[in-house]
Amino acid sequence: MIDLHCHILPGLDDGAQSLDEAVEMARIAEKDGIEKIVATPHLFRNNYVHEDLSIIEEKRKELNKTLKVNNIRVEILNGAEVHISHNLIDEIRKNRDYIVLNKGAYMFVEFPSEHVFSGVQKLFFELMREDIIPIIAHPERNSVFVRHPSLLYELVQMGATVQTNRGSFLGIYGKKTEEAVLHFLELNLIHFIASDGHNTRSLVPRISEAVIRVEAEVGAERARALVMDNPKAVLEDRELPFFTEAVNPDEKKKKLSLKIPFLK
Ligand SMILES: [Fe+2]
Repeated sequence: MIDLHCHILPGLDDGAQSLDEAVEMARIAEKDGIEKIVATPHLFRNNYVHEDLSIIEEKRKELNKTLKVNNIRVEILNGAEVHISHNLIDEIRKNRDYIVLNKGAYMFVEFPSEHVFSGVQKLFFELMREDIIPIIAHPERNSVFVRHPSLLYELVQMGATVQTNRGSFLGIYGKKTEEAVLHFLELNLIHFIASDGHNTRSLVPRISEAVIRVEAEVGAERARALVMDNPKAVLEDRELPFFTEAVNPDEKKKKLSLKIPFLK
């Protein structure tokens, strides 16, 4: 499996705090069947502003070397979790290779947990004009997307993709998040599952338990696509092989209310 979203680089954000912890995280991932991890430190969020983004590359190289010495067969690749900010387009033009995933076209976009600012469609258009394919990071943890799945649907129709967290399927962020992620799954609004791992205790870099849960909902082939085929396409910078047409949540509600009139 490929873990597209993990805060494994030490000392850059609220993820691994030391090289030892990063090595332990990689060990947990290897045991879970993960072969590649994209390191996705927070960028442009609160205090996670780095003067020079080349520090990400230095940390990644150091970790890969240490994993080799320790005989851990997990490869760490380039990436970031990019918080929406005013000068995002300028940052992309300046530092593209540090911001996108594995130097390709895909890029994580993170929203604050309580907001999706108006004009998000315009920003997504601008991103796409820069040849960026946005991956919306864990929308099931954002209260606006949870209340208005039609907004997520609209962004996916525009060409955005969606990553959800392993822990959301396991209920670790609460019942509401779990219900939301299962609803998005039902609407074909999920293209990737990743760990969003931060440490070795609570937010661990594992995915397999979530895959079992998803298999029970939508079958083995689709579950596999979300952790293997689609992430592989991201790393190889090509179109996603599994992009099932999304269901419009409003249309679905309409159909349901025709069948069950009291839902109107
Ligand atoms: Fe994250």
